[in-house]
Amino acid sequence: MKPILYICREMPEEMVAPLREFYEVDMWPSTSEAVPREVLLEKVATATALWVVISDRIDQEVLDAAPELKIIVNMAVGYNHILVEEARARGIIVTNTPDVLTETTADLAFALLMATARDMMGAEKAMRAGKWTSWEPLGFTGVDVYGSTLGIIGMGRIGEAVMRRAKAFNMNVLYHNRRRKPGVEDMHGCRYATLETLLSNSDFVLVLVPFSEETKGIIGAEEIGMMKETAILVNVSRGGIVDETALFKALQSHTIRAAGLDVFEIEPLPMDSPLLTLPNITVLPHIGSATIKTRLAMISLNQKALLAFAKGEEPNHQVMK
Ligand code: GLV
Repeated sequence: MKPILYICREMPEEMVAPLREFYEVDMWPSTSEAVPREVLLEKVATATALWVVISDRIDQEVLDAAPELKIIVNMAVGYNHILVEEARARGIIVTNTPDVLTETTADLAFALLMATARDMMGAEKAMRAGKWTSWEPLGFTGVDVYGSTLGIIGMGRIGEAVMRRAKAFNMNVLYHNRRRKPGVEDMHGCRYATLETLLSNSDFVLVLVPFSEETKGIIGAEEIGMMKETAILVNVSRGGIVDETALFKALQSHTIRAAGLDVFEIEPLPMDSPLLTLPNITVLPHIGSATIKTRLAMISLNQKALLAFAKGEEPNHQVMK
């Protein structure tokens, strides 16, 4: 009997087909709707392998319901939705998809930064609503990206990729990271700063740290309060790192100028979220890695990890190994 693989979202058949030789494949039949919790709990009862996306919360309850589980492949670089330590303690391998999404996510981070700086979404919406009635001397004005100061919180692979883009825009780059990276400083001419210095000196603050108990809420009211009144906050990492209530208050009272968010505490962002009432915010539906090429590369890494596991080889990109 083949081991059971449960796939929590419908994946392209050409990527699933090679897995059928090794696994009894069962798949939630929707690309757009998350597998309901009760279905997931039922399916993991017999699954040896599980293929998840970031909306699938793999917590104690799921692990307790999965006595046969040996591998979880995750179509994301971030894995805060999976109780990895507990999985590893139970001998379950967890894999993710780093590297292939680095440049794509950096593109999106920079695009969101620029869109927020120039309020492109606001201008676009106004134009479609027929509000482009004349050329106004100070109409639709934003702030400059070129030559400004960017503060990057979290200098990992994506942070470095954003920095290369920032350098082409003649930006002065500060970064804050758990550990200082002299190699990065030498190569790119960026400067390490304490969180306080970064926040109080940057025109753009970009959040790129992964979500964990240590980074939860690290950008709260006090930290936002240190930012310049003219500054823009951009988060493309995970909701929950920035305190959304504090951010709402700061944007509403213009303590900072604007924010660009690709990630939220609750995703999808509820339509009654107060954030959506603010004009000085640019929102995107968590699309950092969303190009066809990159999403297919992520799927391919997951598929290869599953194939390797089935053949008794080392799956790629195991986290906390
Ligand atoms: C997306 O957010 C990812 O972690 O890949």
